[in-house]
Amino acid sequence: MSDKSAKLSLNGGEHEFSVREGTIGPSVVDISSLYKETGAFTYDPGFTSTASCDSKITFIDGDEGTLLHRGYPIEQLAEHGDFLEVCYLLLYGELPTKTQKSDFDYRVTRHTMVHEQMNRFFTGFRRDAHPMAVMCGTVGALSAFYHDSTDISDPHQRMVASMRMIAKMPTIAAMAYKYHIGQPFIYPQNDLDYASNFLRMCFAVPCEDYKVNPVLARAMDRIFILHADHEQNASTSTVRLAGSSGANPFACIAAGIACLWGPAHGGANEAALNMLAEIGSVDRIPEFIARAKDKNDPFRLMGFGHRVYKNYDPRAKIMQKTTHEVLGELGIKDDPLLEVAMELEKIALHDEYFVEKKLYPNIDFYSGITLRALGFPTTMFTVLFAVARTVGWIAQWKEMIEDPSQRIGRPRQLYTGEAKRDYVAINTRG
Ligand code: CMC
Repeated sequence: MSDKSAKLSLNGGEHEFSVREGTIGPSVVDISSLYKETGAFTYDPGFTSTASCDSKITFIDGDEGTLLHRGYPIEQLAEHGDFLEVCYLLLYGELPTKTQKSDFDYRVTRHTMVHEQMNRFFTGFRRDAHPMAVMCGTVGALSAFYHDSTDISDPHQRMVASMRMIAKMPTIAAMAYKYHIGQPFIYPQNDLDYASNFLRMCFAVPCEDYKVNPVLARAMDRIFILHADHEQNASTSTVRLAGSSGANPFACIAAGIACLWGPAHGGANEAALNMLAEIGSVDRIPEFIARAKDKNDPFRLMGFGHRVYKNYDPRAKIMQKTTHEVLGELGIKDDPLLEVAMELEKIALHDEYFVEKKLYPNIDFYSGITLRALGFPTTMFTVLFAVARTVGWIAQWKEMIEDPSQRIGRPRQLYTGEAKRDYVAINTRG
């Protein structure tokens, strides 16, 4: 707590509010008593200036282009760690010892299967349903299958639910994919690591042996690490808000998945690849840049810009490297979409409009090309984001539930509708 304060003059009165300092990052003016003291609300649509909670999990410095999980830079975690290690870090606050890591891996691995009856749940969907629609439904349905881990007041049940979601999300995502393409579900194989197991569940078929390519598995694992958590973004705030009412964690994560689906958030990876395909060739880039800059055209360069990063998204840099590794391993030399992406990035980074508005490539710009090379259709891209972000949602949900000062989230509004008026009988309305 700092001894700084902020003063506000309102309606002839003087009011003082304390200013709180985090470990790093901007200070916050604590206005929680504002309404009680002044009868006024603050107004901040899109929460551009609002800290909605205390958190110890993730820190972003948008001007510097820094992302830290529990203090560790994303570059170091992506280079040296694996996804389950990052999951442990996000959930427990520290990197695991060797024993803690193998115990955690074992616990997650033993929850990878889903209730057998869930298979039938999938068949209720149309085959051409978007896999994110299937994810919203099936993840929401988990609370109907795992009643013994929905009591949020029991720390043991909270932990079991967390393990179940981290473990089962790849299985459910792979099932959504298999159902979509009309292939049989592949059961998890628990002697494989998290990413390899996921690739196998997606790409193996019962009639052939499937050998996981370690370079591609490492790339998949790194993609999971890069998407694991990102502070109080839209889907995480959705999970926190849903959880603030005491809803069970499976329902909260389903709410997060629904929010993630939008093209301004997790849906941007699918939209970015579709955009690159639409551009098609380097010579058409100027046309699309002009459209992005045209105020009368709703078109935006997908995979560019970020609410918090006003510098290069650090995840995008690692993603770009991973893209080259994957394409190299698969022997893809002249990917036309990569060519368009690299040229588009080069032009946009020097264009006055993008420079002035600090619009840099975000993680979604390169992830689509990598995921496509790994063999995923565009409709699966946001599903993979959801698999990875599950741990972030859970860590943030747990942090909120375990905070003794936690209350139901209930924003207020600036009402601009009609003032009170009397009902008019239908036969006398003009
Ligand atoms: N292309 C062209 N212009 C843009 C773009 C873009 N991608 N992004 C922002 N702008 C312009 C926007 O028109 C506005 O201009 P002006 O000030 O003249 O009205 C200005 O930049 C600020 O944009 P904003 O919409 O007010 O910024 P925001 O913080 O509300 O939105 C964003 C952030 C990510 C939704 C937005 O940049 C965007 O729509 N980008 C494309 C979608 C995308 O790639 N989303 C993935 C985000 S990263 C993954 C994740 O965390 O989900």
